[in-house]
Amino acid sequence: MKKIILVAGARPNFMKIAPIIRELKAQSSKFEAKKNLAYVLVHTGQHYDYEMSQAFFEELGIPKPDYYLGVGSDSHAVQTANIMVKFEAVCLKEMPDMVVVVGDVNSTIAAGLVAKKLHIKLAHVEAGLRSRDRQMPEEINRLATDAITDLFFTTEDDGTQNLLAEGHAKDSVCFVGHVMIDNLFYQLGKIGDADAVSLSVRSLKECLPEKYLCMTLHRPSNVDDSRVLTRLMETVNEIAKGVPIIFPCHPRTRSRIEEFGLGDLFIEKGAALAPVSNGIVMMDPLNYNDFLYLWKDCAVMLTDSGGLQEETTALGVPCLTLRQNTERPVTVEVGTNILIGNDMGKLRLEVNKVLNGKKKNGRIPDLWDGKASERIVGHILRYLEESSS
Ligand code: UD1
Repeated sequence: MKKIILVAGARPNFMKIAPIIRELKAQSSKFEAKKNLAYVLVHTGQHYDYEMSQAFFEELGIPKPDYYLGVGSDSHAVQTANIMVKFEAVCLKEMPDMVVVVGDVNSTIAAGLVAKKLHIKLAHVEAGLRSRDRQMPEEINRLATDAITDLFFTTEDDGTQNLLAEGHAKDSVCFVGHVMIDNLFYQLGKIGDADAVSLSVRSLKECLPEKYLCMTLHRPSNVDDSRVLTRLMETVNEIAKGVPIIFPCHPRTRSRIEEFGLGDLFIEKGAALAPVSNGIVMMDPLNYNDFLYLWKDCAVMLTDSGGLQEETTALGVPCLTLRQNTERPVTVEVGTNILIGNDMGKLRLEVNKVLNGKKKNGRIPDLWDGKASERIVGHILRYLEESSS
């Protein structure tokens, strides 16, 4: 019997781990009959607020983790080190054949390092993405994780080409599509259920006009510098004079907004019970389905998130990315994504274009078909069988 440990830690990991677990569960009777695969789920606790963590476990159908490491927030070094110390104890107890990490957060590299130092095989889901911006903590996590990974799962050809150019063996790189999109399609199928979306979000949507925008913002490069955040928020506030902007706010961003005295630029959600024709409507982070219910019909998404660049491309929603670069170029090359950088003139122009009916059309990238997790589980099984034979 082979054993794998799956690791999740921060909000964007949960959408990626959910479909893999669903696939493992769907195949579990086969695994039991063949006595070939068992899995253990570890949540590092990098994200711990209810809205940032448990809410996602509940609605995405992720089982209670076998281990919760409870590391919480701290500096990068302390957070990464705490995950390593606690995850090492789990690995020593479970002695897995493989550790599977997803994405590019601190939990990804921390768990990866522990696995490799214990000579455990490492698989990386969403491997090979490169922004070439080493100021981004995620880029360091991506580079370092891929440097020690044994089995790579890529979401787009660019990821595959990056790994091959970095010298990784062709047969270690599997282009499988995107588990994030598996999750998106699955949740989209559920969103019509009466209890899938909260009453408050349903009534908020009823208060919105046909055209509205959504926005998310949390990158240190956008929110940690008061001049950058102020300029961005002032521009967005100007845009919001003509169209409402729904803004579920990451805890990091909310604390910067308070620190920089920008709170007056927003309508808090409590005030949005009557028709909303303009203004930035700020609220706590939303759970997955509530936000999906809002953004799937929005005119434009303004974001600095990685996942939303991809999800908007998958649903054909225009996306303006508030970053200079993207590690997910397929969203720009074939999808609906446009990079804005910090050019506020371009931001105004592109929003106006979409509001005036000139949106960028895209297509769904190859293999973003809802079946990535099925391919991943198949590859893992084959890999483990071959490496033990
Ligand atoms: C992390 C990931 C980032 C990902 C983002 C999604 C790293 C390096 N960054 O960034 O790639 O896009 O998650 O959200 O791993 N906080 C809370 N409650 C929480 C979690 C965080 O209040 O549940 C606050 C704390 O003040 C904390 C800050 O947010 O210091 C930042 O949290 P952290 O996990 O360090 O990074 P994120 O900015 O969330």
